[in-house]
Amino acid sequence: MEKKFKRTTVTSALPYANGPVHIGHMAGVYVPADIYVRYLRLKKEDVIFIGGSDEHGVPITIRAKKEGVTPQDIVDRFHNLIKDSFEKFGISFDIYSRTTSKTHHDLASQIFRTIYDKNGFIEQTSEQYYDEEAHQFLADRYITGECPHCHSEGAYGDQCEKCGTSLSPTDLINPKSTISGSKPVMKETKHWYLPLDQHEAWLRKWILEDHKEWRPNVYGQCKSWLDMGLQPRAVSRDLDWGIPVPVEGADGKVLYVWFDAPIGYISNTKELLPDSWETWWKDEDTRLVHFIGKDNIVFHCIVFPAMLKAEGSYILPDNVPGNEFLNLEGDKISTSRNWAVWLHEYLEDFPGKQDVLRYVLTANAPESKDNDFTWKDFQARNNNELVAVYGNFVNRALVLTHKYFEGKVPQRGELTDYDQETLKEFADVKLEVEKLLDIFKFRDAQKEAMNLARIGNKYLADTEPWKLAKTDMARVATILNISMQLVANLSIAFEPFLPFSSKKLREMLNMETFDWATLGSTDLLAAGHPLNKAELLFEKLEDDVIDAQIQRLADIKKANEEANYKAKPIRENIAFDDFTKLDIRVGTVLECQKVPKADKLLQFKIDDGLETRTIVSGIAMYYKPEDLVGKQVCFIANLAPRKLKGIVSEGMILSAENNDGTLAVITPEKLVKPGSEVK
Ligand code: 2FM
Ligand code: ZN
Repeated sequence: MEKKFKRTTVTSALPYANGPVHIGHMAGVYVPADIYVRYLRLKKEDVIFIGGSDEHGVPITIRAKKEGVTPQDIVDRFHNLIKDSFEKFGISFDIYSRTTSKTHHDLASQIFRTIYDKNGFIEQTSEQYYDEEAHQFLADRYITGECPHCHSEGAYGDQCEKCGTSLSPTDLINPKSTISGSKPVMKETKHWYLPLDQHEAWLRKWILEDHKEWRPNVYGQCKSWLDMGLQPRAVSRDLDWGIPVPVEGADGKVLYVWFDAPIGYISNTKELLPDSWETWWKDEDTRLVHFIGKDNIVFHCIVFPAMLKAEGSYILPDNVPGNEFLNLEGDKISTSRNWAVWLHEYLEDFPGKQDVLRYVLTANAPESKDNDFTWKDFQARNNNELVAVYGNFVNRALVLTHKYFEGKVPQRGELTDYDQETLKEFADVKLEVEKLLDIFKFRDAQKEAMNLARIGNKYLADTEPWKLAKTDMARVATILNISMQLVANLSIAFEPFLPFSSKKLREMLNMETFDWATLGSTDLLAAGHPLNKAELLFEKLEDDVIDAQIQRLADIKKANEEANYKAKPIRENIAFDDFTKLDIRVGTVLECQKVPKADKLLQFKIDDGLETRTIVSGIAMYYKPEDLVGKQVCFIANLAPRKLKGIVSEGMILSAENNDGTLAVITPEKLVKPGSEVK
């Protein structure tokens, strides 16, 4: 039998405060968590929703150094930006705090200390790279060098970003400290490790036997970690940004960011509920649910539970709905390549359209596999689903009620079989949506909610009250009464998914109560209930708006390609005599035409100063033949003739190849006599 809990603590991964949040974060973590919490609240369950910024870790210190500011400046800037974006998207946290708070520093130190006092850590000394000029140990990201695999320069101590290989700092060829530029040396350092190997047995049972209901991607990742065998993991680092390790002899050492961050969930609860926070974290009747992305699975399912178990007084998560990744227009979202749709930018470009993004991200939620966000899909879902189905039904029902019944819900008379079937379908959808939300299938649940709107649209299309208005007003009253009940149901069913639209709709409906228990009811609006003015819930998105977004991404891609561009390595030296063997001349183009059945080839007649020669050149994609006539070009005059598409080419026209593969013909900077030598 499934356990009945009294309350639910919902957490969503704390984003690093070293950059803004994007649609990938939203789709993977915050929108699903928010839907779930809103659903529980509508059901009048006891729930808290905990969020906050993750403000420690090396990337924050790197960004600060790059910008010449302090890490605190960085986290202040991004914490506020992120918090603001979440608020504007209706992510309804009960608290959004930060891991630089005093409450958090105190609690994280205390939890470390409790585990330490229970001998829950092991101390180990190892050799790590040390910068003798900067007098500090170097985090993996602070060391760069040549990648041992692809031999590109600038690979980091943990990864080569060119070829993607995971590395250890000692793998790098010619390692260099990014702080001082000096060559680091190996030096002994002591750290505290959480002996995960000692926790393996209970973790195996707890996850693999007791939580078979976890999503297959989450369960599968845990299983493969457990099957590989767990190793002790260091929970401290040599760094000057973070929470000092609270034991003697730990100068210059801080808690590893992944040790303190999940404790942030608890500290933020403590900040929210100073007197009762323990109930939400220590009472067996509390259900703990972590919403995360797939890169966080191991930390939430293995490392954090091991920490909590080692501490001894906390509950463990009941479920960890981890999502796969959302890609953008076919490419992995990347902060460093600016390949993302940033929330704060979306808010500027699409003011008031938060629900549209929420809808599309849920419709495409990467619940079981990576998914793709495209602007065309965004437009299609807005225009064909939100506008054409949901918005259209709501608008028609309201406008007709205003038109025929002065904006008051009419009295319904006897119901036909079709009326009853329609109402029954609504009641069924409620059960289906609930079932899906209870097992974290948000995509399917939203689809079901949208089905309600489809049913409504079909009902109006089938019953055609506007035609009956001439002959049978009693029947029109029944149809519109039913339609308005359906609209009221929609406003409840969509509240977890599209809170802004539900609020707007609720205002139009002049509805006071809003309760999940009443979903499916056929009497949400009494006869005579006055409605407010009908407004459009959604607006069509035109091509130009979408094309602007697509163009923005194309510009970013181009800029990235250019930034990454490096000329090909210079070929081996040749003797001067070899060069002089080439007879390069300038010629004037007399004629130029496309070669039939060859997309790439142009056929030239060139005046080479002595006679007219024919040259075939593969530049048809980049020039119109008529644009080249009269131009001077450089060509190799003593290349043995070759046959191309049946034409004998007596030489080769020289072009420069750009990094994107396009070609530009080489011409002399001022006019010269045909036949002039190029040397
Ligand atoms: O991956 C991340 O963005 C981490 N900052 C998530 C931390 S989740 C929790 F442990 F706080
Ligand atoms: Zn490499």
